[in-house]
Amino acid sequence: MRRTHRIVVFPGDGIGPEIVDAALEVMRELEEHPGGFRLELEFHRAGAALYRETGAAILPDGLEAFRRAGCALKGPVGLPEVRGPDGTEAGLLGGILRGGFDLFANVRPIALLPGVPCPLAGHRPGGIDYVIVRENTEGLYLSRGLGLVTRQAAADTLLLTAAGCERISRFAFKTALSRPAGAPADGKRRVTLVEKSNVLRSFAFFRRIFLEVASEFPEIEADCLYVDAAAAALVSRPQHFQVIVTENLFGDILSDLGAATVGGLGFCAAANIGEAAAYFEPIHGSAPSIAGRGLANPLSQIRAGALLLDYLGEKQAATALELAVRRACAEGKLRFTPEGRVEGGAQAAAAAVRQALRAA
Ligand code: IPM
Ligand code: MN
Repeated sequence: MRRTHRIVVFPGDGIGPEIVDAALEVMRELEEHPGGFRLELEFHRAGAALYRETGAAILPDGLEAFRRAGCALKGPVGLPEVRGPDGTEAGLLGGILRGGFDLFANVRPIALLPGVPCPLAGHRPGGIDYVIVRENTEGLYLSRGLGLVTRQAAADTLLLTAAGCERISRFAFKTALSRPAGAPADGKRRVTLVEKSNVLRSFAFFRRIFLEVASEFPEIEADCLYVDAAAAALVSRPQHFQVIVTENLFGDILSDLGAATVGGLGFCAAANIGEAAAYFEPIHGSAPSIAGRGLANPLSQIRAGALLLDYLGEKQAATALELAVRRACAEGKLRFTPEGRVEGGAQAAAAAVRQALRAA
């Protein structure tokens, strides 16, 4: 009997359905490998188009399916013109799934692959290879939908809890231990807290808790960096980092910055992980302007599939998939435009990755 995993699929908005198709095609190829597994897929609509039709970003049966399966592959969601009365985008799932299922760790690997154009001078593949662990349930985004607005002023509150800072710090140190290699610059296991404790008490609080947790991991170097300096360092010396842990908004911003240094958002995936459930997605939005035109880079979604397989315990398949992506890039089977688009679009890219899997 092959191991069977049930996963929910949310294709999402814009380019979501086409890149999710590409990812599933590649994952089906892996099912057939020796020692393979079976994925039982349950599709559910979710996102801004659904919100426009029904007034809800996700329906009760989609939520219930995710609760039962505890695992989902999610495409990007959101359409800039679909907004609620308060002016924020409606139809996003972050507040619902991350908050609702307590998926406190948003794990975003940033790695420069062979054959992918790097906008920074002097970096080789492997020279940028770190993970951003973004706190996913509190910080400034806890204020989602709750801020105060009058005609003269508006306020959103950044809230951090001791329990939240402690668990995300511990998660980051464990991530540093589990990674095969240390920081590219010196091979050291290192966790860097990105904060702004020179100005805000909330970050001084996070820093104190982070350093307490760090003392449980004497074999890992712990350092703290102000977010403004961190933004510069991710450009000037990205090889210094192995694992970065940070607050929700900072993690959102810095992961886009990091992605830009390794070819663009279209290459980067995220795992949203809690105690009882997890979902996997690209770090970017739904790019409605290029949807349906065969232009989208599906590597973010394909690599979200690799993170999902790893989470399900299919380590061999996860590694094979990530290596196939790297091999297809290295051998020029996947080629990129200077804007980070993949030549031939999502379908051609999926075919190239499948071929690399077969050749392995
Ligand atoms: C992300 C996205 C989301 C976020 C948006 C779409 C709400 O930018 O996953 O990084 O802000 O978390
Ligand atoms: Mn983002």
